[in-house]
Formats: sequence, structure tokens, C-alpha cells
Amino acid sequence: MTDLYARHRAVLPDWLALYYKDPLEITHGEGRHVWDADGRKYLDFFGGILTTMTAHALPEVTKAVTEQAGRILHSSTLYLNRPMVELAERIAQLSGIPDARVFFTTSGTEANDTALLLATTYRRSNQILAMRNSYHGRSFSAVGITGNRGWSPTSLSPLQTLYVHGGVRTRGPFAHLSDADFIAACVEDLKDLLGHTRPPAALIAEPIQGVGGFTSPPDGLYAAFRTVLREHGILWISDEVQTGWGRTGDHFWGWQAHGASGPPDILTFAKGIGNGMSIGGVVARADVMNCLDANSISTFGGTQITMAAGLANLTYLLEHDLQGNARRVGGLLIERLRAVAAPLPVVREVRGRGLMIGVELVRPGTDEANPDAASAVLEAARAGRLLVGKGGGHNTSVLRIAPPLTLTVAEAEEGAAILERALSSVQ
Ligand SMILES: Cc1ncc(COP(=O)(O)O)c(C=O)c1O
Repeated sequence: MTDLYARHRAVLPDWLALYYKDPLEITHGEGRHVWDADGRKYLDFFGGILTTMTAHALPEVTKAVTEQAGRILHSSTLYLNRPMVELAERIAQLSGIPDARVFFTTSGTEANDTALLLATTYRRSNQILAMRNSYHGRSFSAVGITGNRGWSPTSLSPLQTLYVHGGVRTRGPFAHLSDADFIAACVEDLKDLLGHTRPPAALIAEPIQGVGGFTSPPDGLYAAFRTVLREHGILWISDEVQTGWGRTGDHFWGWQAHGASGPPDILTFAKGIGNGMSIGGVVARADVMNCLDANSISTFGGTQITMAAGLANLTYLLEHDLQGNARRVGGLLIERLRAVAAPLPVVREVRGRGLMIGVELVRPGTDEANPDAASAVLEAARAGRLLVGKGGGHNTSVLRIAPPLTLTVAEAEEGAAILERALSSVQ
């Protein structure tokens, strides 16, 4: 055990999970690469959990942060804050939500917590609909609506949560159905559920489940749900913490794959927008956002230093059409990985969209999750100098591939070749 690992273990919580038998200390990064404390260079296909969205040490973000740091870091939400107003204006416009208001937080958890506060206050209900296999954060309220046993350390909650079918296309009771029938079955189930419960405040859903292993329903499911929810006045919260900012390639927001019935009432974001600076937030229709009748602040939410980073990062993303890059390079990468996986019985499915790709591993010849293989591939990929993530239900058996959105074709090829060797080594 390295000295730093021993010190980590001695002073930090046991439940703060680390990747790798011999955990990695990352000391610096550039573009799509990071270096460890021993000077080894890795291709980074996880971006610190989809958070290094554009690139490591992106000069435009570094410059904006440095310049802002020389002026002022923070003044709190009690004072006018130009970078916060500017970023809010841009996000409101990009959100697709009419007459949108934006509230900045410091994390995705706090963003979802705020969304739950808004929805439950607006609707005067503590009932929440959430998806099975979902993850929405680590606070007391967020774990209460998270449909993933592995990340839900308590069932005590101020909220009553009812879990809906549909977030996982290829497992569960409706997996054998066609897309249209799958959607119809999930909608019927939702209608049935609503007949048995007090009126819920909201449905919260990740368009593509992140921690759950990059699973998603057929396009259009949430539009179909929306029609039913509207009849009951139930709000739709789209948790875009992983799917936002063009990562899915086809769309800027994940909800747009379900856009037929318009944008959600509330959208939450975090991770990539700050490229590593702590920015989370909530966008909501004005009547929903303004429904609180007491003051609320976020001391660190929207602080100048993070907003400067967010503005520079977003500008770079839009000016360089990184959504288009995610679509093009992600499309190549997923095809390449499907070809790699085809002869390997340990791979059940390669799925995803844009630069959000999941590789689900099973015990060969069965449909059983194979967390040991996932851990072994993670180690083998690291040995080949590639970092990827893991996820998937409570049996963590899905490799998660989510590089910065500036990924080049050559880097995609290089990463796929390393993964091919890593996957073959656990056959
Ligand atoms: C979909 C989703 N929502 C919320 C969160 C919580 O965000 P944070 O870790 O910034 O609190 C996460 C984190 O992984 C997430 O993936």
C-alpha cells in the first residue's frame, strides 16, 4: 500500500470508493490525457466521471479562471454578479424551457435537491416518481429517490418514492417487447400506478442512466409519460447531470430524444459545465422556480470563479461544435467497440449514444452480471494506459466510456485497441 493510500484510508470514510487495487493518484492532465504521480501517461476515457467535458487544462478555461482569480473569487448571492447573470442567460436560452429561471448550486446532488424542493412545494405533495436503476445524488433527499441499492445507504426519507419501469431497455419484464410495445407497457404501468397513489409532485428521470450503466429507454418514452403526467398536473424533472451539453451527440440535452411533447418543467445540470469547477444548477419555468415563499441562498452557488470557468467552457463547446464531434467520433467509437465485442461472449451489450458508451459484461453463456470481469477489464485497461469507468445497477458490471468531448478519431482508435486487448484478456 502506498503511503498516500494508507493516509487516505486512515482519515477518509470507508464508503468513499476508490478505483483499482492499487489506487491511482492523478497529478496533471492535458487534452484527453492525464499523468500519474510516477509520470505514467494515460488516455482518459472517463474525465473524472464525465466532468472534464471539453479537455484537461483547456487554455481558454485556464485563462478565464486565472483572470477572474486576479479580480475576485466570490461575493455570495447577496450581490449582483455579472458572470452569474451571463451564464444564467445562456443556460436559460439553451434549456428550451420558456420563461426559464436558473439557480446555481455547487453539485448535481444539490441541484436535484432543489428540484425536489420546488416540485414538492409547487404541488404540495411529497410523492415522487423515479425510475428503477436511477442515481440522483448523495444527499438525504437524493438517496431517497435513487433506485440503485448500491448507492442508497438508507431508505429513510422525507419523500415517498414510487419506482417506474422504463429506464432499462434490455432487462426486466418488458425487455422482450418491441420499442413501441415497450413504451406502451411502461405507460400502462405508470397509469396503473397513478391509480393507486396520492397525486405525485413530479417524475424525475435521467434520459440516459449514468451510474446505472448508460441504460436508456427507447426514444419517445418520456414524451409518452409526459402526456399522462400532464393530465394529472405532475411535473417532469429531467436530470441532465450526465447527459447535458451535447454529450449524447444527437441532442444538446438528453430530454430532446423525448422532445415530442416539449421540454421538461425542471432541468438539473452539473458535472461538465464547469470542466471541473463546482457548478450545478436548476432551470425551471418561472412559476415553478418562484413558488418558494421564503428566502434561499447558496453561498458558493454561482460564485464568480466558477461562473468564469463555465462561461469559457460553454463558449468553447459551442464554438467548436463539440456536440457534433461527440456524434461523429462517438459514432465511430461505438461501431469499433461493437466489432471488438462481437466475438467475445463476456460482452452482453455495447450501448449508448455520442460519447456516452456502456459495455455490459456477463458470465459467458448467461445473462448474469459479471462484476469481476468489469474490475479485471478496468485493471487491464489501466495497465494498457487507458482509464475507463464502471457502473450498472448494484452489480457493477458495465464499463463506462465517456471521454472529453474533444476526443479525436486517432484517440478513439487508440482507446478501442487498448479496450480490445483488455476485454480479450478476461475472456
Ligand atoms: C444523473 C446524476 N444526477 C446527480 C448526480 C449527483 O451529482 P454530484 O455528484 O455532483 O452531487 C450524479 C453524479 O454522478 C448523476 O450522475
